[in-house]
Amino acid sequence: MIGSEVNFAELLTPTYTAPNIRRYLGGAWSMHLPFAWDLVRELQPRILVELGVYKGESYFGFCQSVEENKLTTLCYGVDTWQGDPQTGMYGPEIGQEVEAYNVRYSRFSRLLKMTFEDALSQFGAGSIDLLHIDGAHRYDSSQKNTREKTSRCSICLSHHASQCPFEIRS
Ligand SMILES: C[S@@+](CC[C@H](N)C(=O)[O-])C[C@H]1O[C@@H](n2cnc3c(N)ncnc32)[C@H](O)[C@@H]1O
Repeated sequence: MIGSEVNFAELLTPTYTAPNIRRYLGGAWSMHLPFAWDLVRELQPRILVELGVYKGESYFGFCQSVEENKLTTLCYGVDTWQGDPQTGMYGPEIGQEVEAYNVRYSRFSRLLKMTFEDALSQFGAGSIDLLHIDGAHRYDSSQKNTREKTSRCSICLSHHASQCPFEIRS
């Protein structure tokens, strides 16, 4: 069910001291959400971009950290909300639910309903401090332009890095 939320607190052990993740959907990013929260707190990115939002599990994990740590980060979530060969194609209800959920973060979060290619053209060179690439999990034209958009001290998160032919800068 779209947006069904497990109470993250019920999964916690007595020794868990990390944040209580609000939007826990049991997806691929679920157990990385405390990491996402910590990463944003430590990096304090000026601009955060996620390519591939889907139901927003990872994206809203980043947003929760921006809010709770009172950061000035601007967040942009990019997706057509139509799906892709790996995720599968899906209807408009997922994008609509994500848009409604995003209202709570409207101070700093914008959803860009468009292709990665079109969205990247809207960002200046060297402007993105934290980039999460979570699209079709293959290197294609949409991801070739990401490198020039990231800042010198940026961090890029990506799945299946062995398929990514561009070098990782230090
Ligand atoms: C694996 S899902 C994202 C998962 C999400 N980050 C999460 O935490 O659950 C990939 C998403 O990327 C989107 N996508 C794939 N290729 C795209 C492209 N070229 N432009 C825009 N969206 C794209 C799909 O619509 C899909 O919703």
